Amino acid sequence: MVTTSFSLPPFRPFALENWQSDYEQSVDFNLSDSTIDPVSLRELLGSEADIERLLGTELYYPEVNGERALRESIAARYPDAGITADHVLVTIGASEANAAIVDAYCPPGSRVIVMEPGYRQVWGLAQNRGCDVRGFTLDPDRGWRPDLEALAELATPETSLIYVCNPNNPVGYILTDAEMAEIVRIAERCGAWLVADEVYQGSEHDPADRARTFVGRYDRVIGVNSMSKSYGLSGLRIGWAIGSPQVIRDLWRRHEYAAIATGRLDNILAGIALEEATSARILARNRAAMSEGWSLFEDWQRSLDGLVRAHRPMATPLVFLRFATSLDSVEAGHRIRTGASTLICPGEYFGFDGYLRMNFGFGRDYVAGALKAMTPVVHAMAEEAPSNA
Ligand SMILES: Cc1ncc(COP(=O)(O)O)c(C=O)c1O
Repeated sequence: MVTTSFSLPPFRPFALENWQSDYEQSVDFNLSDSTIDPVSLRELLGSEADIERLLGTELYYPEVNGERALRESIAARYPDAGITADHVLVTIGASEANAAIVDAYCPPGSRVIVMEPGYRQVWGLAQNRGCDVRGFTLDPDRGWRPDLEALAELATPETSLIYVCNPNNPVGYILTDAEMAEIVRIAERCGAWLVADEVYQGSEHDPADRARTFVGRYDRVIGVNSMSKSYGLSGLRIGWAIGSPQVIRDLWRRHEYAAIATGRLDNILAGIALEEATSARILARNRAAMSEGWSLFEDWQRSLDGLVRAHRPMATPLVFLRFATSLDSVEAGHRIRTGASTLICPGEYFGFDGYLRMNFGFGRDYVAGALKAMTPVVHAMAEEAPSNA
């Protein structure tokens, strides 16, 4: 038996991602993911010229901070904020951007405030660093509007960072202009970094509800985005952070340690996806997939006559729902997994037990198959362990 004179710090795994990686390969229907029906390479490449460009690419490292052409296309997405290619760092998905941000700006012992329910990457990373992590909630009884009074109370001078996800994963809420202004005011008042995870921009169900960016509203805003969600291109593993040149340098130094660079082909393919006509084509395709999926979901919900409750999301292919059962969300997730060979995600992993998150944007037949398989399990859960609510 080897003995050591040191002990490892406590480590909290990323429960949501852990749930997905443990089970997503062994079910017939995987509705646990948060992207939209994945786009194929054939659908993405619009012309022979695109194909020739890929075939002629030398598979060398790209520029470490991301190919300039891609950074320019990304910068052009922020026309009102004076963003140039030098304000952009291309990362391995939004995941790497969020991880580098926590590493750079959340010292142990400082307070980190996150939106809940939420994607708990920053929450978990900050806990693992020894931060004092607090949540402010989106209120289910007010259409998931944020409790900004709670945020204002939590935002003490010890706060290093406030993390918001807009549109929100898992509830699809889009912040109003007034709410965004108030969040900026609170961050400014305590001098905290404001990290805006905007990976669901472009997945608004009604284009009139377009989510606006936080980028440019305060000098300590860091914008995070990715090709994974609204574009349905999670296999590219391309994301980015937007910030001042100093922020970009801080994150870039971490990127050199973690990854050196992203993939060169991925940079080129992301650049193609962001070209105006291609981008409009893909976003429209994905909006249609979400709209079809949502009507299937609504029909199913109606047919279950009160056994499934949910609020219509304003964006994202995700619905945060409640079943008429007193089982906790992890137990209900296991029942659906084993009884319907369908994977959805326990709300517990978003900080909200009692709910589960399900994707409805994965293509008509696939979603219809999963809903059909889930029906008897939803009935059985309600009969065996009825809800007290
Ligand atoms: C809100 C949010 N941010 C970041 C990510 C990370 O995504 P990716 O690394 O694929 O860009 C996810 C993935 O589920 C997410 O939902």
